[in-house]
Amino acid sequence: MKILVLHGINLDMFGKRDPQHYGTITLPEIDAQLRKLATELDVSIETFHSNHEGVMCERIHRAHEQDFAAVVVNAGAWTHYSYGLRDALAILRVPVIEVHMSNVYAREPFRQVTVLGDIIHGKIAGFGVDSYLLALRAAVSVSRAA
Ligand code: DQA
Repeated sequence: MKILVLHGINLDMFGKRDPQHYGTITLPEIDAQLRKLATELDVSIETFHSNHEGVMCERIHRAHEQDFAAVVVNAGAWTHYSYGLRDALAILRVPVIEVHMSNVYAREPFRQVTVLGDIIHGKIAGFGVDSYLLALRAAVSVSRAA
């Protein structure tokens, strides 16, 4: 089973961004923890990051033709306003699990707005790197149940 993990805009700056919300872990360290868990769960993962909305949408278009069982996505700020990303994710026929390091509902009002809410299978937010690890477990679990 293959799971695609997508990291959106500004997430390559984890480690340098507000540590109160994101801690000090970097994106490569998050990916390393995901790969370790994937091995434990006996699945393979591919991780992809872009700061460019069109590049991210084109990666999602390619995923449509690939045999991923599920997609885990932290869309960063795109979550709150990108209809382009939303439409790209909506094309997928596999479960999409949304992730946020921070609890977006305990932050500024604009972060409590999402354009992805009705196209995702579920969402995990507020647990730091554990949000990603829980999302990978959820993605595997929903895919195995399907
Ligand atoms: C984030 C939350 C978003 O509101 C923010 O724009 C990010 C990171 C998170 O992981 O908590 O870039 O997606």
